[in-house]
Amino acid sequence: MFNIVVKDSYEEVSEEAFKVMHAVLMKEDPVLGLATGSTPIGLYQKMIEDHVKNGTSYANIRTWNLDEYVGIPRNHEQSYYTFMHEQLFNHIDIKEENVHVPVGETGSPGEAVAYEESMKDITVDIQVLGIGSDGHIAFNEPGTPFDSLTHITDLHPQTIKDNARFFKGDEAQVPTQAITMGLATIMRAKKILLIATGENKADAIYNMIHGPKDPSCPASILQDHPDVTVILDKDAASKL
Ligand code: F6R
Repeated sequence: MFNIVVKDSYEEVSEEAFKVMHAVLMKEDPVLGLATGSTPIGLYQKMIEDHVKNGTSYANIRTWNLDEYVGIPRNHEQSYYTFMHEQLFNHIDIKEENVHVPVGETGSPGEAVAYEESMKDITVDIQVLGIGSDGHIAFNEPGTPFDSLTHITDLHPQTIKDNARFFKGDEAQVPTQAITMGLATIMRAKKILLIATGENKADAIYNMIHGPKDPSCPASILQDHPDVTVILDKDAASKL
């Protein structure tokens, strides 16, 4: 079930997302599912501010990230491991042993099995998601089966185009594969918090909510989730 909130600006979207996150942070030792990309940066800034000003502690919080590029080392400046440390983990009191980011360096299917296994005894209390302009969530590209678990995937040409901005605008530098939680992995989270801004997300948001429930729009699987909060700016909501 979708609870849709539309806000005027990225700042307000991030503020609203933080409210939803904060309610979960107040529970005992929650497990957070985290995303990378431009969209959640404002939310992570608010989490850092709250930690610094109000002392909200992450000492007992565990996190599992959605995905990682294949073929670049963890210490690469554009790895999602580096991104998460720069945008959040280095600024809060989380313990490194409680941080989980898939290992993409080798692209070995064994890493995907190991990551899925690492989640076998936990329940993610809140899963933060962005959405790709092609309707992907994590790196579950169009056509990914709804029952998929963590796996290695080829990135869609649109995703490579969209993410070239992180690689000096050079598509040739963007990795062509990723390791990603599967759609079935994501659906096990108790609560989903999906954030999207910008007109280039408007079609994907429409298809997620009103389109057929079909792997051609991977995010449409969320129509079956009992608790999805969707926070949008006016541009991303413009086709609803
Ligand atoms: C990132 C991820 C991706 C992004 C999506 C949107 O961990 O899983 O699905 O959420 O590509 O990216 P941005 O926010 O950069 O538009």
